[in-house]
Amino acid sequence: MKNHKNAAMLARATAVALGAASAYVLAQGAAQPTPSERAIEYRQAVFKVVAGNFGPLSQNAQGKIELPAPAARKYAERLAAVADFTRDAFPEISREGKTRAKPEIWTDRAEFDKLVADLNTQSRALAAVTARADAKPEEFKAAVGAVGNACKSCHDKFREK
Ligand code: HEC
Repeated sequence: MKNHKNAAMLARATAVALGAASAYVLAQGAAQPTPSERAIEYRQAVFKVVAGNFGPLSQNAQGKIELPAPAARKYAERLAAVADFTRDAFPEISREGKTRAKPEIWTDRAEFDKLVADLNTQSRALAAVTARADAKPEEFKAAVGAVGNACKSCHDKFREK
């Protein structure tokens, strides 16, 4: 008798718990971004990290902030590393949604990929300059300028205003 009562209580408790669990799963499901939203958010996050590391280098090249050599090298190395992430930040699935990426990226892919490659080449060149103790300020400025041009060329052509 006692066992039966316990079993019934357990069954009720389980039913309540499962009900709560499925309600939770449903609520989570509604809040989850779609694969497309996720891919777009990922890309925008990658560019935030790109900008977060290029920003101090650019400001330093313009004489707006001081940047000790080891810090410049750190930012430049991170920029070169994260620039590589942009290569696969534009999957087909991320074409439509809350994005400023222009549709031409997917119709003019060869041209777009050239600009991605250029960002990578210029970022690595900048990292190489910051790694050299004998690099002149002019070399640093030129390398930062080349990266800045790589950003701008792509934004002008492939990013919505
Ligand atoms: C090959 C093309 C390309 C290059 C090179 C490029 N960008 Fe972008 N960038 C884009 C596109 C496209 C977007 C729009 C992404 C979106 O909205 O999904 C973007 C978005 C951004 C954003 C906004 C991110 C957000 O919060 O939504 C920042 C900041 C940014 N880029 C900075 C930079 C900087 C700094 C560089 C150079 C160091 C750079 N980008 C190089 C194409 C490029």
